[in-house]
Amino acid sequence: MAGLHLRLLPLFLALLSAIAIKGSKAYSRTLPPPKLQRLTHLHFYFHDTVSGEKTTAVRVAEAAGTNSSATLFGMVVIADNPLTEGPTMGSKMLGRAQGMYASADMNDFGLLMAFNLVFTEEKFNGSTVSLFGRNPILSAVREMPIVGGTGVFRFAKGYAQAKTYTFDRVSGNAVVEYNVYVWH
Ligand SMILES: *[C@@H]1O[C@H](CO)[C@@H](O)[C@H](O)[C@H]1NC(C)=O
Ligand SMILES: *[C@@H]1O[C@H](CO)[C@@H](O)[C@H](O)[C@H]1NC(C)=O
Repeated sequence: MAGLHLRLLPLFLALLSAIAIKGSKAYSRTLPPPKLQRLTHLHFYFHDTVSGEKTTAVRVAEAAGTNSSATLFGMVVIADNPLTEGPTMGSKMLGRAQGMYASADMNDFGLLMAFNLVFTEEKFNGSTVSLFGRNPILSAVREMPIVGGTGVFRFAKGYAQAKTYTFDRVSGNAVVEYNVYVWH
């Protein structure tokens, strides 16, 4: 008799949890996986303007030794950088890269990048992709993870490849070409 009860226990628990799920206040429930997944390739130019009239990237913090460090270790920059279709600012505006980068490598130039890519054009308008990773800016191609997204890019995963297009040593301004592959 007790054995029968024990065997019925899982059934009873399943029934209980089914009832709990039906209630509107269920804490969690399991849904079927999303049906459509796509790989989207995005290509654009990122304008990092640190000086001049239209500055969009500002240094907000530094350590006592940052300016004497060969890699500007400890520098923190907040940016709201335009993303355009072509390399010039006159080309079509696709969105903004909003976030920060910080010099986090004492020996080589290596930035910690934390950005939301906020798209404003066509089917991606209002959708975002979150990029977080290490950017060794002197390397020809830098790869950084895409760790999430919103809107069209919900559940996003992927990677970004960044390549410096122009860098002005005097102003410090840079245009960087991005190829982003997003699975979403
Ligand atoms: C470090 O350099 C930056 C940029 O040239 C400057 O704005 C800042 O005042 C300097 N900081 C110190 C502590 O000298
Ligand atoms: C993008 O969406 C915003 C807010 O819904 C809207 O105001 C804007 O006109 C849209 N832009 C384009 C290019 O469709």
